[in-house]
Amino acid sequence: MILFGIIWFVRTVKAILFWTYLWQLKDYHVGRFLDHFQTEKGRSLIFNKLIVLKAGMLLFLGASLFLLFTDFPIPAESFILSMGIGSGGGLFLLYILEAARTTQDLVRKRLRLPIFTKKILLLLGINASVFIGIALLLFEFTLYVMNAIGDKVGIRGPYGNGAWPLDKYDFKTQKNLFIAVGGLGLIPLRALMLGKDDFLGKDSQVQIFYGARSPEEMLFRHEYGRWKERNIQMELTVDKECADWKGCVGLITALFDKHEVLQNSVAFLCGPPVMYKSVLAKLKKFGFADEDIYLSLERRMHCGLGVCQHCAVGSYYTCKDGPIFSYAQVKNIPGAI
Ligand code: FES
Repeated sequence: MILFGIIWFVRTVKAILFWTYLWQLKDYHVGRFLDHFQTEKGRSLIFNKLIVLKAGMLLFLGASLFLLFTDFPIPAESFILSMGIGSGGGLFLLYILEAARTTQDLVRKRLRLPIFTKKILLLLGINASVFIGIALLLFEFTLYVMNAIGDKVGIRGPYGNGAWPLDKYDFKTQKNLFIAVGGLGLIPLRALMLGKDDFLGKDSQVQIFYGARSPEEMLFRHEYGRWKERNIQMELTVDKECADWKGCVGLITALFDKHEVLQNSVAFLCGPPVMYKSVLAKLKKFGFADEDIYLSLERRMHCGLGVCQHCAVGSYYTCKDGPIFSYAQVKNIPGAI
């Protein structure tokens, strides 16, 4: 990093000196300065093969950094990543060569330098301040990224039963999976969708009814396409009509009126507690047995160990015995749902 900083410093000082020299050569006259770029020599200062090569490399480097720090789908990810790594190395090499050439030019007194008049010194002072400002910003940013990478995150758990009852059923051949989720409820089920082929089998069928307040609040939207390719049927609804939305409008129960629910399914429910009663009523209409409906209960947790009793649901503790319960377990507990 220090080496890269020195190299960047050398080539930037060279660039500042050169452009100041050119500005002085054109008598500090904007028109003459711009006229210079009408000539072939002037144009080659901005559009030359080296600059095009660097711009291409920077593009690949930027795209691969973007890929590394986000999970946004971009076509040909592995190609861009390998080009990005190659471009990073190539840029580093180019800058080393440039810095070496600059040092050589300096020693042999071949560097284009302005005549150091008061005006030029003032200009260089301003340029140097801008340069130092940018360098400090980059330094701060680098420190920030390095610190973030080294940060420690504390995670307690896992607590409770913590898992959907996948091993109770044979999803590969006998059962399908129906999921009803609202709002943030999609988060605990996303891992299941990502590893669907491993957890449930390639041919298992999954149907998701997902309700959110607005299309913007739907989570992991860019993944739905990939999920569909894995035999996962998504049905979406939003609470209220909005400009760009052509799909279903209404609460999640509206989806039950528009779509057939997968036959022979186990149901997983996760969402705001207010959603459960109405969804359960619909599921019972579709003939789901109480034992085949699982829901994730939401309670304010404190100790997480079954000690403080904050999360009690009847004789169960959500933190210890849940948060996932079958409907059969909790349907007769007052206030559970
Ligand atoms: S959070 Fe304390 S008993 Fe569950």
